[in-house]
Amino acid sequence: MSTSKFRVGMVGAGGIARGVHIPAWLSQADVEIVGVTDLMPAASEQAAKLAGERTVACATIEELLALKPDAIDVCTPNKAHPPVVIRALEAGCHVLCEKPLATSTAEIRAMGEAADKAGRVLCAVQNHRFRGETRAIRQWAETGQLGEVYHARVRAMRRAFLPTPAGFIDGTLSGGGPCMDIGVHALDAAMWMMGFPKPVRVSGTSKVNFAKGNKIPGKWGEWDRARFSVEDFAAGFVHFDNGATLTLEAAWLGHQKEDEDFSFQLFGTEAGVQWPSGEFASTCNGTFVDGRVAFPNKVEKPHAALITAFLNACRNGGPSPVPWTEAIQVMAILEAIYTSQLERREITLSV
Ligand SMILES: NC(=O)c1ccc[n+]([C@@H]2O[C@H](COP(=O)([O-])OP(=O)(O)OC[C@H]3O[C@@H](n4cnc5c(N)ncnc54)[C@H](O)[C@@H]3O)[C@@H](O)[C@H]2O)c1
Repeated sequence: MSTSKFRVGMVGAGGIARGVHIPAWLSQADVEIVGVTDLMPAASEQAAKLAGERTVACATIEELLALKPDAIDVCTPNKAHPPVVIRALEAGCHVLCEKPLATSTAEIRAMGEAADKAGRVLCAVQNHRFRGETRAIRQWAETGQLGEVYHARVRAMRRAFLPTPAGFIDGTLSGGGPCMDIGVHALDAAMWMMGFPKPVRVSGTSKVNFAKGNKIPGKWGEWDRARFSVEDFAAGFVHFDNGATLTLEAAWLGHQKEDEDFSFQLFGTEAGVQWPSGEFASTCNGTFVDGRVAFPNKVEKPHAALITAFLNACRNGGPSPVPWTEAIQVMAILEAIYTSQLERREITLSV
């Protein structure tokens, strides 16, 4: 039996890296975080201290790659993902990359092709797929309970939770607002549950309704209004090749009672189901039948579960737990929502 540990290098040492990824890596057996790099040296050093006694705070990604990691974990702002991911793949590393994998389909394709060429695992961090509720509802749906899904209603709607760092509100760093931040999660989970039908037509809107003003106070504090250059609300209507449709709504700010409505509902010919509650509605012999999908396996830490799956894929030669070929379908929809707003028309997709 080999005794060598799986070597991980981290790029980007901000909130998600320090709060979630590093603890998740440290909870895995036979793994060591060999190095960390961030544009801000202080962040690299703090993260390296968290990650292990022998973890090196590297000044650059090249210094990190020189440590010969087996995998690179990318936790930079969205717009920095593609160059880092492609460089790491070219250096022969497997890559785990935070969502969204990239902010355009062209970039995701380039990243995916680089992974395929290198024969390495590329995995997007769509952690909501790894929640116990998501797994249970999907397993229930796979037994045919829903019949044919003809419509999905997807929501990632917040009343007053706008993430304040520049990496989210500056479009040159994030590539978009709530669509890229939280819409991508709910949409990915819904499409995964639907078996990834192919999106063919999209119309959408994306707007700034509140983020330039003071009408809605942000519950995460103040943000730089001058630098704010993304939407605070977006909505889209999607047609799939199998005839099904989907609506997506995503917002950081808006007048609604709930702090957050992060959910989706699938409507099928035999039943409808809600995520993440698992409540379903159907009929039997003309009688209404309602219930709730059982959640036998609670997953306390979906990020750690995803990292375990990624690690297994790297050790066993794939496949990726969240492949780029699925991430690109999700991004095609988000990208088309923005294009539809700009060009004031329905967008036809050919991804
Ligand atoms: N899956 C989830 O639930 C979840 C939650 C939060 C954030 N995220 C994603 O994680 C990523 C990072 O978010 P965050 O909240 O940690 O942001 P953050 O702003 O806290 O941290 C980002 C860090 O990356 C560094 N950085 C920027 N460009 C870099 C580069 N080229 N090379 C190296 N370091 C660089 C910054 O200095 C900063 O320290 C984003 O893609 C975001 O969408 C995912």
